[in-house]
Amino acid sequence: MDERLWSAAAAVLAGNDAGGWTRAAPRLYPHQWSWDSAFVAVGWAHLSVPRALTELRSLFAGQWANGMVPHIVFDPAAAAEAYFPDPARWGTRVAAAAPDRPTSGICQPPVHALALARIAAVADAAGGADVERVEAALAELYPKVLAWHRYLATERDPQDSGLVSIYHPWESGTDNSPRFDAALARVAVGDLPPYRRRDTGHVADRAQRPSDAEYDRYLWLVELLRRAGYDDGRIAATHPFVVKDVLFSAILVAANDALGRLAARIGAPAADRALIAGWRDRGRAAVDARYDPGLRLCLDLDVRAGSPVAVRSVAGFAGLVAGGDRLPELVAELASPRFLGDDRLRWPVPPSTSPADPAFAPRTYWRGPSWPVISWLLWRSLVAAGRDGAATALRAASLDQVGTAGFAEYVEPFTGEPLGSPNQSWTAAVTLDWLADG
Ligand code: SER
Repeated sequence: MDERLWSAAAAVLAGNDAGGWTRAAPRLYPHQWSWDSAFVAVGWAHLSVPRALTELRSLFAGQWANGMVPHIVFDPAAAAEAYFPDPARWGTRVAAAAPDRPTSGICQPPVHALALARIAAVADAAGGADVERVEAALAELYPKVLAWHRYLATERDPQDSGLVSIYHPWESGTDNSPRFDAALARVAVGDLPPYRRRDTGHVADRAQRPSDAEYDRYLWLVELLRRAGYDDGRIAATHPFVVKDVLFSAILVAANDALGRLAARIGAPAADRALIAGWRDRGRAAVDARYDPGLRLCLDLDVRAGSPVAVRSVAGFAGLVAGGDRLPELVAELASPRFLGDDRLRWPVPPSTSPADPAFAPRTYWRGPSWPVISWLLWRSLVAAGRDGAATALRAASLDQVGTAGFAEYVEPFTGEPLGSPNQSWTAAVTLDWLADG
């Protein structure tokens, strides 16, 4: 165990702790982000199981009446100019389902059940009072997580396809990935109220963030969602940006697998368990069906264009995350020169976009840099698939990366330069989980 790295990671979580919830990053992301906070809870579990459970409770306090977990639960005490788009811009009061507290009006990948399962495993291994705390938290959180998954399986999949529709690139969590270039380019920006970006004030080099043209479209999509009253039926019918996101869908499969095990643990009704297993199996088959033998990756579906999105990105490993029949091909592709086998990489950890893709840009947000949290997701998937050799190698390379580059938001894949925000909470959190696993 690397005690120095452990203490440094713990200090990042403590530094970003706002008291019951954790800022995703000290300045760039000063609120509670949905999928960040689930990873963060996994990190907290190794320091304090009660604190880990509090993290998820705080997030779910912002859950909408329709089950949606918003991608940001805002800190009302933060300065209005701390982050944009702010609560006023989201204007979620137009939505019947929105809670009283300020939140955004979109969601992010459902990693929460994975986090709960991991916290439960940490508590079980330690034994004692933490096990009872987990049982109590499960009684409270299980119905909320079930409602969240139900929302995704129904409102976000009116076709019963097993694939989740996203209405904004931010919902994917991989904002400016080239996966969304074509769909975003077709979005014609209308009468967009003026705005001022805040993110570029926090990151020294603008080239590490999405472009202004992308931002205009991001804000225009928010405007359209607000004008549609955040009504999923209206949005599904009229919104110009609708993508069946393979990675989001695959995470839901893994999350349903975890939720099914938690449901069995607490003795949830058999009907719940059958429903969850059905969502899992339907999603797994649907993700497998998105496998493209030419690119050897799973591809998103651009619903408005009616075509697959032929981009070599880390989302293509959706079938590995979902644990389906394409696992052997995807494990081979992950090791190929298009991903981990590219000998220019400073560490064999997955770049967000393959260097073999024409859109690859090694310093720009999701267009090339590596993200430790994505490495964690693939590591966990390899462990679940019984690919111990590949999993061990990925964990070792990832720890080497964070040990050198620190707890950066993302990392230049060839030089190892830390990029984006320093002291990113989820980078510290997955570091704790990797160290605890050793
Ligand atoms: N990641 C987005 C941002 O950069 C929003 O979730 O603000």
